Amino acid sequence: MSRLSELLDVGKSNTAKYAILAAVVLIISEITIIVYNLYFHPLRDYPGPTLYKASRLPWAFKFATGSQAFFVQKLHDEYGPVVRIGPNHLSYTDPRAWKDIYGHRIGGESSMNEMSKAHTFAKTIRNRPDSILTLNRDDHSKFRRALSHGFSDSAMREQEPMIGKYVDLLIRRLHEECENGKKKLNMEAWYNWTTFDVVGDLVFGQSFHCLENIDYHPWIETIFKSVHFGAIMVALTYAGLGELVQIIFKFGSSSKKARQYTRDMLTTRLAMEGKRDDLFEGVLKKREEWNLSFDMLSANAFILVLAGSETTATTLSGATALLLSHPDILAKLQQEVRSSFKSADDITITSVNKLCYMLAILNEALRLYPPITSGLVRIVPRGGQQVAGRYVPEGTFVEVQQWSMNHSKDNWKDPWEFRPGRFLDTPEAAAKAGNKLDTLQAFSTGPRNCIGRKYGNP
Ligand code: HEM
Repeated sequence: MSRLSELLDVGKSNTAKYAILAAVVLIISEITIIVYNLYFHPLRDYPGPTLYKASRLPWAFKFATGSQAFFVQKLHDEYGPVVRIGPNHLSYTDPRAWKDIYGHRIGGESSMNEMSKAHTFAKTIRNRPDSILTLNRDDHSKFRRALSHGFSDSAMREQEPMIGKYVDLLIRRLHEECENGKKKLNMEAWYNWTTFDVVGDLVFGQSFHCLENIDYHPWIETIFKSVHFGAIMVALTYAGLGELVQIIFKFGSSSKKARQYTRDMLTTRLAMEGKRDDLFEGVLKKREEWNLSFDMLSANAFILVLAGSETTATTLSGATALLLSHPDILAKLQQEVRSSFKSADDITITSVNKLCYMLAILNEALRLYPPITSGLVRIVPRGGQQVAGRYVPEGTFVEVQQWSMNHSKDNWKDPWEFRPGRFLDTPEAAAKAGNKLDTLQAFSTGPRNCIGRKYGNP
């Protein structure tokens, strides 16, 4: 008698026998998958660590614990410009990957005009209403056109006094709170309070009053919690537990609370319809024509606030930390600002564009502390595609992780050093010095790049 039949036979109940059989089948199928992933998978010749080529679990674990971007950067140092970070998943630091993965495509079926976002990452919860981040190609372009009015230069100029009001309040509050420079303040929180107040006003027509209350609004605290929760849900889905995720989400309370706050704020905003020319008005005007549901409006308002606030606050926090640890660069920046304006009133959205050194500092801060470190995962369309000069089969997850791209020694001279001067060179001179300036794409590229980049970085 074989070992398996001995195991199943001797003095065991039917239930125990079935459980053992199921375990054996599971183990055999897992081993088969691992062997396939390592030796027969179309990506088998791409470099990467064996464990990550064999199974999705190690990457999922790193993602859930928030360490994957830092880990993948180290893998690029070891394995080069393309690394197989999961059985079906490639990460790139080759600059050509920006265009190949995220760029515009011309011709073909409309759904083929761009490499779609991978649902595992972009639409982890299936029955949630779509937002601009998840809409299909055609709906996305329509929606984006409607939004773009609120992001135009003329709209920005109209919004300027309102934005200025919050910046003035930030400066006043800092003076009040810092006890003449003796008291330490958590600038990351202050920047978040400011950007959430601004974007809250730009989208919902109401401030979160963080700067007035010197504290986070409960909505923001709930959002921060739900972002971490969301990463765990993505990791579980990636590991093959997508169905479990749908159930967990159904009963999870923190995201329910966030959605309720959003609905309340949207109700207040809808009462102002037609009276404001802000980021959301363009979409509201199309509400009836496109039959946009309240839930869809709410999902988009939520994304706009989140996309515009925390990202900008992270950039400012990074820039502040870098400037404070490099007094010589800070002094040069002070000199530029103070010699460019006679009074604070001369500082406007337009006039700051002449501050070349400040813009270089912001670029360097975005390079060293990209607010979106990773997670912009796309899926290779039918028929496969060339990425960075090599064929990738259909269905593969592909991505550029900003943290890896921006810290690659193939792209930057001394990638870990804070050197704003590298952005003052012409692209040719910079390339000679070892800096490929256009590998910095903090706002991504192509049809789904950041619509708010002028707000995030003039
Ligand atoms: C430093 C600040 C910012 C950074 C680094 C940043 C970065 C990005 C990136 C990388 C994307 C692409 C996401 C994807 O492919 O899924 C994106 C999209 C987007 N961002 Fe920003 N962003 C910033 C500021 C803002 C601001 C201030 C707003 C609005 C007030 C905004 C609104 C959006 C929206 C609506 C999208 C989705 C665009 C689309 O799918 O068509 N962002 N951003």
